[in-house]
Amino acid sequence: MKPTTSRLLALAGTLSSAVAQFVPAPTDLIKTKGFYDLDVRYKQVPDGICELTPGVKSYSGYVDVAEDQSIFWWFFEARNQDPTTAPLSVWINGGPGSSSMIGLFQELGPCGIDGNGSVVYNPYAWNNVSNMLFIDHPTQVGFSYSKPVPAYRSSASPSNIVELPNATCPDYASNLACGTYSTQNASNTANSTLAAAPSMWKTLQGFFGAFPQYSRHEFNFATESYGGHYGPVFNEYLEEQNALIQAGKLPGAHYIKLSTLLIGNGWYDPLIQYAAYYNFSIYPGNTYDYDVYNDSTKAQIYNAMYGTGNCYDMTVDCYTSGLNDICSASDLFCFAEVENQLDIIAVRDEYDIREPYNDPFPYTFFVDYLNTPKVQQAVGAFVNYSESSSTVGTAFTTTGDDDREVGTIEDVKKLIKQGVYVVEYAGDADYNCNWFGGQVVSEETGGPSFVSAGYENISTSDDIVHGQVKQNGNFAFVRIYESGHEVPFYQPLVALQLFERAICGLDIAVGTEGIWNGYRSVGPPTSTFREGNATVQFGPVPATAIYNTTTNEPNPYNHTVSKRSLQDKAMSKRSKKLFKPTPEMKRLKREFKAARGGL
Ligand SMILES: *[C@@H]1O[C@H](CO)[C@@H](O)[C@H](O)[C@H]1NC(C)=O
Ligand SMILES: *[C@@H]1O[C@H](CO)[C@@H](O)[C@H](O)[C@H]1NC(C)=O
Ligand SMILES: *[C@@H]1O[C@H](CO)[C@@H](O)[C@H](O)[C@H]1NC(C)=O
Ligand SMILES: *[C@@H]1O[C@H](CO)[C@@H](O)[C@H](O)[C@H]1NC(C)=O
Ligand SMILES: *[C@@H]1O[C@H](CO)[C@@H](O)[C@H](O)[C@H]1NC(C)=O
Ligand SMILES: *[C@@H]1O[C@H](CO)[C@@H](O)[C@H](O)[C@H]1NC(C)=O
Ligand SMILES: *[C@@H]1O[C@H](CO)[C@@H](O)[C@H](O)[C@H]1NC(C)=O
Ligand SMILES: *[C@@H]1O[C@H](CO)[C@@H](O)[C@H](O)[C@H]1NC(C)=O
Ligand SMILES: *[C@@H]1O[C@H](CO)[C@@H](O)[C@H](O)[C@H]1NC(C)=O
Ligand SMILES: *[C@@H]1O[C@H](CO)[C@@H](O)[C@H](O)[C@H]1NC(C)=O
Ligand SMILES: *[C@@H]1O[C@H](CO)[C@@H](O)[C@H](O)[C@H]1NC(C)=O
Ligand SMILES: *[C@@H]1O[C@H](CO)[C@@H](O)[C@H](O)[C@H]1NC(C)=O
Repeated sequence: MKPTTSRLLALAGTLSSAVAQFVPAPTDLIKTKGFYDLDVRYKQVPDGICELTPGVKSYSGYVDVAEDQSIFWWFFEARNQDPTTAPLSVWINGGPGSSSMIGLFQELGPCGIDGNGSVVYNPYAWNNVSNMLFIDHPTQVGFSYSKPVPAYRSSASPSNIVELPNATCPDYASNLACGTYSTQNASNTANSTLAAAPSMWKTLQGFFGAFPQYSRHEFNFATESYGGHYGPVFNEYLEEQNALIQAGKLPGAHYIKLSTLLIGNGWYDPLIQYAAYYNFSIYPGNTYDYDVYNDSTKAQIYNAMYGTGNCYDMTVDCYTSGLNDICSASDLFCFAEVENQLDIIAVRDEYDIREPYNDPFPYTFFVDYLNTPKVQQAVGAFVNYSESSSTVGTAFTTTGDDDREVGTIEDVKKLIKQGVYVVEYAGDADYNCNWFGGQVVSEETGGPSFVSAGYENISTSDDIVHGQVKQNGNFAFVRIYESGHEVPFYQPLVALQLFERAICGLDIAVGTEGIWNGYRSVGPPTSTFREGNATVQFGPVPATAIYNTTTNEPNPYNHTVSKRSLQDKAMSKRSKKLFKPTPEMKRLKREFKAARGGL
């Protein structure tokens, strides 16, 4: 457990107890209908809450996708174009269970929040070039809610939300832990990628119908991390719904065409990507020359990955059996014995190999900001804000969705055929969904004509090479240098230019050629650039440190930090937990081995 929680609780006694800890239901939302007869409730967000550019409007609200399932969204107009003709792009984070406010405030939204809770303008925001719609998905993630109830976070296990009989914060709950939360009922959310697709489609139907001025037929979808599952599956579902609409089978629904799909550090295919942990941390190793383990640990992890009946075999068994229990047990095993070793033994940040486990980047100051009455009222929130929903994470665990490929590669192939421009990009310091795995996935997806294209340097307006791209027509794989998991945080300029080129149908390398007439990138077959260890932090990094995107290191000076700001880091991919194999897991592993004939 990170020290954060105890620090938070230590402060508890200093605050006075009050009903103010609970979120009053907003009374000023405008009610309207979206397509498909969906209820939409929204308000205009006052200036200064996030977007600081005068005249650039912002709206937020909910689409009610089912009984006790309300999905939160936050929309920003494009800054530099007429928003009624600008393209529309959706952003969602992964998890499962991670809020898209992570992307909004840490990565590519119009603002960030600094150490003393001030709103900071982001000159690299993606709404520089597009209308942007951030969605907290599925229900219970972020500001999305099932039923709002008074509750508190248990001090023993802060991800555990305990309902209270009334809106009084009792003595046994820390004052800082009380708030209004969703009832934590797994029936009011999704438990797999496939099951989450319809509510995303409905959210789009709701928004498109309520805001026709911002929603033309085509839109772009950008996502990250577990979005390697979400992006392909949600959008292939959308294409299937489109076919039904065209056949007249979904009255009231609107044909919505996807034009671009961007996925950053995606989790696509566990069989490839669990193995990629070995490649990245052990052999052939990452490009930061960071050799993580001693020889005996290397041998131990090799065995956990490839030993008979271990991660590889278990994942194959998950793929062939398709059974929830097998996939779930396999995932737990692979996570604990392969992936999580980096956290436990090397004590490094999975999301950025250059940083120690207690990594202050990207900043989490926005969490407290979103838990102030002023901001909750400004966006029309019904519940307190959480970065990550453990109910959603756990629901997905019951189906072992994380250990399944869920058709991601086939779906991307279909989308490419259907004329969608697909760009998969990866910050190369991320271990969690590392670029080695992403590259193998891209080769499987793109096939021989993609593999035979070359890695070309990406040119950006600062004349610094921030990465390379391999591209064949409307499919590209991008490697970004000196970047952790959340690329737009670490490399904001190349991220914005990549996004702009993608949504304009231009090549990623230079951004001057159309991609539809057999465009191919030119260069060597592999990307061989090595950063070396110059930016690797071998000592601790202060919780108040500021990341410098020019030096790719912490600045020598710190943030001013308010007392509640030192919260836990985002769990922006598959929930990163410090993990010990439980007896239950050991039992499942034994049973797995027994089922395979005692191997
Ligand atoms: C919930 O939000 C209220 C403001 O509406 C705030 O006072 C309270 O501290 C928040 N609770 C948590 C746990 O953040
Ligand atoms: C984004 O747009 C603003 C004007 O709205 C401009 O000042 C800023 O330089 C732009 N950012 C980039 C990276 O071009
Ligand atoms: C609220 O619930 C607490 C238990 O947490 C109870 O002691 C108290 O009497 C209740 N207050 C009201 C007004 O019902
Ligand atoms: C959870 O939600 C489902 C569906 O809304 C409902 O049938 C069930 O009773 C709920 N469970 C609890 C414990 O409230
Ligand atoms: C890992 O490395 C092996 C050989 O060194 C290679 O065959 C395999 O494709 C790599 N896998 C990934 C995911 O990088
Ligand atoms: C290798 O590292 C592991 C984990 O830190 C440690 O337990 C073990 O003693 C080390 N082995 C050697 C030979 O140094
Ligand atoms: C997952 O959710 C579906 C309903 O969407 C339910 O039928 C199924 O039993 C759930 N699976 C598990 C393992 O809980
Ligand atoms: C690509 O960029 C690297 C620096 O990362 C540079 O050394 C190399 O010459 C460039 N290659 C080409 C073909 O421009
Ligand atoms: C960093 O890399 C250099 C060689 O490039 C090596 O000599 C040095 O030992 C490395 N530093 C650490 C702390 O591993
Ligand atoms: C980042 O580092 C560069 C080079 O040392 C420096 O000029 C710049 O001011 C730093 N940026 C910030 C925001 O501190
Ligand atoms: C930054 O914060 C760390 C830890 O609080 C402290 O040790 C260090 O001296 C600070 N650095 C500066 C330049 O203030
Ligand atoms: C903290 O907020 C004050 C205004 O309240 C501002 O002047 C100052 O620059 C901020 N400090 C930092 C480090 O952001």
